[in-house]
Amino acid sequence: MTPSDNVTLYRAHLSTIKARIDQALEKGGFDHLLSGLGHREIRIPRRPPLPLQAQRPVQGLAAAYPASPLLDSLYPGRKPVLVYYQPDDYWHVPPSAPEGVWVDEFDIRVISDPAEAVKHLPTGGKTAILGETDAALPGFLPNNPKVVLDYLHFHRAFKTAYELDRMRAAQRRAVPGHLAARAAFQAGAPEMQVHAAYLAATGHTDFDLPYTNIVCLNQHAAVLHYQYKDVAAPPQHRTLLIDAGAEVDGYASDITRTWDNGDSDFATLVSAVDDEQQALCDKVRAGTDYRDLHLECHLRLGNVLRTLGIVDMEPGEMLSSGVTSTFFPHGLGHPIGLQVHDVAGFSDEDGNLIPRPNGHPYLRMTRTLAPGMVVTIEPGIYFIPTLLSKLKATPQAKAVNWAQVEKLLPYGGVRIEDEVHCTDAAPENLTRDAFAALS
Ligand code: GLY
Ligand code: MN
Ligand code: MN
Repeated sequence: MTPSDNVTLYRAHLSTIKARIDQALEKGGFDHLLSGLGHREIRIPRRPPLPLQAQRPVQGLAAAYPASPLLDSLYPGRKPVLVYYQPDDYWHVPPSAPEGVWVDEFDIRVISDPAEAVKHLPTGGKTAILGETDAALPGFLPNNPKVVLDYLHFHRAFKTAYELDRMRAAQRRAVPGHLAARAAFQAGAPEMQVHAAYLAATGHTDFDLPYTNIVCLNQHAAVLHYQYKDVAAPPQHRTLLIDAGAEVDGYASDITRTWDNGDSDFATLVSAVDDEQQALCDKVRAGTDYRDLHLECHLRLGNVLRTLGIVDMEPGEMLSSGVTSTFFPHGLGHPIGLQVHDVAGFSDEDGNLIPRPNGHPYLRMTRTLAPGMVVTIEPGIYFIPTLLSKLKATPQAKAVNWAQVEKLLPYGGVRIEDEVHCTDAAPENLTRDAFAALS
């Protein structure tokens, strides 16, 4: 891709986003839009990063996010004004001058004092002001009109060609990290060093990852959002589950791999989940209700549990009695883009709720798939002591091969996660393509 291809893509992207904004403003009866485009917090040292940080309040307008608060004011039909805050700061490095493919598309006004912003912002007419209320400028308190937000959020699921290009790049940035993490695991490294290998290979620091890496050796894989990194290596390296992404121009990737050490029972389980995961990825097709895919995932994983002699029960009964939820207690996946768990997974264009299936409280996406959407597909089978002890107290316990469960407990679990682009035809697996390009 040449720089001029990039500019062309970005221009087309911005024109799509502007058209969406015009529609949203018209729906809400507003004359213009003012949007806080988000910023990267300067973190106080030693404050732990928030898990799954995704604090950008960006409503899909621009797609390049320098480390500066940005304010954009958009009047339909005009070049957007962008107020770019470059403080005179000697405690931290201030944001550098605006650069990137997006710069020429904005009327940029650089300020060094937030109070100066006001003179660049819209006067007169009805303004939809999007943003977080605690970051408000005097006289510009966000009103976050629901009708505007609902429309923009809903359409944000449909990625432009520019966004897809950036998301592919975010995959290509993460994959070397996954390969380095696997090598560190195979060399017997502790979690902290596996994590360090990941960071070095992706060129990220902890603070600019799209979410805190989840790096689990052995039974730690049974903690879905395991938040620590042990400094010492365990006596044995049975398995590594690593859930880690990367960021490119504000777009996140979210990838999970589970590597085994060749132990036959656990390796068989990883390979069986991988097969089901790939079959599910292939079903990311226009017109498919994501809720149905989630339920199909339960049935497929139930079949794995039965085939591998872990639970002796028909998969449909495992699903209806909650047995599969003991082993797979999270959702199949979620929309992704500017945020790891992107907005509007549960609503239609007017903000009406599309409910989750009963008994599936952690599913993060209930919409019907359509071309342009990118979702994660992340099935898993885990051996989680607290959920297993609850299962043990139910009538279904008699169908469980507890000896086999005991044998697999020290491995924690398996999750495989890819990002998949729904197209007009066959799905595009952004993650597998990035792995294939490197091997
Ligand atoms: N990394 C968090 C998730 O997969 O949703
Ligand atoms: Mn995910
Ligand atoms: Mn993940």
